[in-house]
Amino acid sequence: MKNSIETNDKGSQKILEINNLHKRYNEGKTNEVHALRGIELTVHKGDMMAIMGPSGCGKTTLLNMIGHLDRRSAGDITIDGVDTLTLSDGQMTAFRRDNIGFIFQLFNLFPFLTAVENVETPLLLTGMNAGLAREQAKMLLRELGMGDRLYHLPTELSGGQQQRVAVARALINQPAIILGDEPTGDLDSTTSGNIMDLFRRINKINHQTFVLVTHNRWIAEKCDYIVHMTDGKISGIEENPLIRRQTKR
Ligand SMILES: Nc1ncnc2c1ncn2[C@@H]1O[C@H](COP(=O)(O)OP(=O)(O)OP(=O)(O)O)[C@@H](O)[C@H]1O
Ligand SMILES: [Mg+2]
Repeated sequence: MKNSIETNDKGSQKILEINNLHKRYNEGKTNEVHALRGIELTVHKGDMMAIMGPSGCGKTTLLNMIGHLDRRSAGDITIDGVDTLTLSDGQMTAFRRDNIGFIFQLFNLFPFLTAVENVETPLLLTGMNAGLAREQAKMLLRELGMGDRLYHLPTELSGGQQQRVAVARALINQPAIILGDEPTGDLDSTTSGNIMDLFRRINKINHQTFVLVTHNRWIAEKCDYIVHMTDGKISGIEENPLIRRQTKR
């Protein structure tokens, strides 16, 4: 079984390199789970990658490791040339904020902030002028069909609407890497399609990189690559012949 994966864009810049990544939960205890078992993965700038695999195979764990939301047990992760083990906790927090956008399985919206306030928060954290941040947040929410829900709290929104707020919040400050755990999971196929089209547009314009976990083959087929995971390992990679540019960069 193939377990070393590199996408084919040899000429383009590596945005993410993962070497021999392991994650054990409850390490050393009787209930230890060896969730990631030697992941090798290279992603180039501007790739759109889908990760598929059965429930429990380690997809969310892998995203959490890439996003540095949890500690790895072993292995190296290099993001945009930076070996992240060299960063202090404080440096990592700033690095994550500036480079990585997250769309979680559970939306993790701030419950006491309205839709537009949730979306503008990352911009305000970078020190952007409040009026400008508000305008940009409104524009993106309108693009996601949320123009008439700008001032609603998360509890006043449907699941799919909350998901669109979470998508907008992840995209608003144009991070180099966007990590999505079932980013279109609860949405109907039209809205899912719109969000994938938005991702692709952003990907083309800004060369932002997407790593998206999905159970949905139709969503995965909108990406450049489909990475298959089984039992904490990468078991194969498909290049999407329909989407991928014919000539390699
Ligand atoms: N905090 C944790 N403590 C202990 N074990 C965990 C923890 N989180 C995940 N696991 C275990 O690690 C393995 C991988 O879990 P993970 O959530 O990454 O799977 P997944 O591929 O995202 O599954 P799904 O498609 O159901 O979301 C599973 O066996 C899971 O039970
Ligand atoms: Mg998961």
